[in-house]
Amino acid sequence: MTFTLPDLPYAHDALQPFMSKETLEFHHDKHHQAYVTNGNNAIKGTEFEGKSLEEIVKASHGKNPAVFNNAGQHYNHLHFWKWMKPNGGGAIPGALEKAIIDSFGSVEKMKEDFVAAGVGQFGSGWAWLEVKGGKIAVSKTPNGESPLVNGASPILGCDVWEHSYYIDYRNRRPDYLKAFLESLVNWEYVAEMYDAAAKA
Ligand SMILES: [Fe+2]
Repeated sequence: MTFTLPDLPYAHDALQPFMSKETLEFHHDKHHQAYVTNGNNAIKGTEFEGKSLEEIVKASHGKNPAVFNNAGQHYNHLHFWKWMKPNGGGAIPGALEKAIIDSFGSVEKMKEDFVAAGVGQFGSGWAWLEVKGGKIAVSKTPNGESPLVNGASPILGCDVWEHSYYIDYRNRRPDYLKAFLESLVNWEYVAEMYDAAAKA
């Protein structure tokens, strides 16, 4: 498949004050575009041409770093834009909330673990909620990796590369992660991915 940059599902200034127009102009228009362009160039003429994005991410991991890094980040960012919405955070849809409580004991504990994973990721990477073996778990990955390469299904990811928060939060990564959970997450989209992962 050829990668293409999707439009943001909201205006560049729609996530303010939690994520600025300037951050989204750089992060979506420049960084994500670069993963798309470089990914398409890296895939040209390889065995990965013609495969789906998820297949490329899984098959290139540990085999072809140029393909993997760009395809991985394309996959992660495609979802990242949809994992946020204006006036996000708030109530978690019932079935997902129940599954979170079954797995963590409480929503608060899940949020604590998620922030700790994001803060504990040394350098660039992602904090995740993933489904593995029927349970929801928190994990973290470096660079362009995701739970896909660990045999799990990602249902929520927060980009903790500095390009995602440095303009708005400077070095305060914990504040960014808390704002992401409390004011940005599109829990309906997380529930959609949870439903798909639970059926798989
Ligand atoms: Fe990013």
